[in-house]
Amino acid sequence: MKASLTKGLGQGFVVEEVDLAEPIGHEVRVEVRASGLCHSDLSVATFIGEEFPVVLGHEVAGVVTEVGPLVTQTKVGDHVVGSLIQYCGACTNCLSGRTHVCLRPEATLRTADQGPRISWDGAPVAQGMGLGGFAQEALIHENQLAVVPDEMPWAPAALIGCGVLTGAGAVLNSARVQHGETVVIIGAGGVGMNAVSGARIAGAETIIVTDIEDGKLERARAFGATHVVNSRTVDPVEAVREITGHGADHVFDFVGARPVTAQGLQMVAKGGGLYLIGVSSGDAGVEVNSIATLSGSQRVQGVYMGSSNLKRDIPLYASLYLQGRMNLDDLVSKEIGLADISAGYEALKDGTTARVVVTDLS
Ligand SMILES: NC(=O)c1ccc[n+]([C@@H]2O[C@H](COP(=O)([O-])OP(=O)(O)OC[C@H]3O[C@@H](n4cnc5c(N)ncnc54)[C@H](O)[C@@H]3O)[C@@H](O)[C@H]2O)c1
Ligand SMILES: [Zn+2]
Ligand SMILES: [Zn+2]
Repeated sequence: MKASLTKGLGQGFVVEEVDLAEPIGHEVRVEVRASGLCHSDLSVATFIGEEFPVVLGHEVAGVVTEVGPLVTQTKVGDHVVGSLIQYCGACTNCLSGRTHVCLRPEATLRTADQGPRISWDGAPVAQGMGLGGFAQEALIHENQLAVVPDEMPWAPAALIGCGVLTGAGAVLNSARVQHGETVVIIGAGGVGMNAVSGARIAGAETIIVTDIEDGKLERARAFGATHVVNSRTVDPVEAVREITGHGADHVFDFVGARPVTAQGLQMVAKGGGLYLIGVSSGDAGVEVNSIATLSGSQRVQGVYMGSSNLKRDIPLYASLYLQGRMNLDDLVSKEIGLADISAGYEALKDGTTARVVVTDLS
C-alpha cells in the first residue's frame, strides 16, 4: 500500500510503497477515507520527532476491513474515527473514567517480539501515535477507534479525532465552562475553532477570540465568537480587560509561544484558569508568580486531548454535527491527495485556511 513517509526532521512527507502487517490481538485494519493535517504532526516532522522513518497522520477516518481475533468493539464494514488517545482500560485512571491519563498507554501498541505494524523495504517504520493515517490503510488498536454513523461524511469525521476532541473537550471537559462565563480563545486555527463551538454549546456569554490573521478572525465570528481581537494590531490583554471589565474566567492558549502564553495569564480573572494546549517551539511555557496567582486563586492547567473519553465523545460530536448543532463543514478548507501533504501544511499558513484534509488516497 502507499503511505506518506517522513524520513527525518525537516524532510517533509514523501509517498512510498510500504507493507502493513496482518491484524493480531485487538488490532483493526482500516481502509483510510480521510486524514486531517493537524499542526502537531508538523511539529513532530520539524522539531519534536525522534523516530524515523514514520507514517504520521492522526486525524483519521475510514472503514473497517479486517479485525484481529480479540476485537469485540467493532466489526468489518463499520465507519470508524481514530484518536491518538491510547488507553489500556484496566489501570486506576482508566477505571475512574480518565482514559486520557492512562498509566499504560503502550498496551495499545505491539511489543518488540510481535514485529512492526508497518515496514518499508523490509525495515520497520514507526507509526505516528498508534495511528499512521497518512496512508491508504492503517492497523490500529480497537481502543483507539470509535464507531460513527454511516451517514457521517468522511472529512469532518476525521477532524473529530483530534482537532474537535481537543478544542471542544478543553472547554467542555477540562475547564467545564458554565453558562454565563467568559472565555478567551487564543489562536483561531483548526483546533481553536472547535473551542469556540464548545463554548457556544456550554452557553458561555462572552467568547473572545484572538489571532494575528483577520481572515481567521472573520471565520471565528461565523463559528460563534462574540468578540474578535487582532493581536498584531491591538494589545490583546487590554482588549480583554476592556471587554470583560475584570478578565476572563477561562483562557485557552492554542498557540504556545512564551510571549503569547504570558499575555494569556494576564487575561485570567480572579478565580479563573489558563489552559495550555498549543506548542509552537521546544521552550513553550509560562512563568507563574506565586503571590499574584495565589491572591487571585488562579490555576494553570496543561490540557491533553481535551481530557476526552474518545468512546463517548467522538460519537457525541458526530451526533451534534448530524443534528446541525456543531459546525465541522467550515473547518474543511481544502481536500488534497496523499502526495500533497507538504504543500497542504504550507497552505495552512494562509490566513483563510482552517483545516486541510487528505481525501484522495489513490
Ligand atoms: N494539547 C493537545 O492535546 C493538543 C492536541 C492537538 C493539537 N494541539 C496543538 O494545538 C495547537 C493548535 O493547533 P491547530 O491545528 O489549530 O494549529 P493552526 O496552525 O491551525 O492554528 C494556530 C492559529 O494560531 C494563530 N496564531 C499564530 N501566532 C499567534 C499569536 N501570536 N497570537 C494569536 N494567534 C496566533 C495562527 O494564525 C493560527 O490561526 C498546535 O500547537 C497543536 O500542536 C495540542
Ligand atoms: Zn492533532
Ligand atoms: Zn489505563
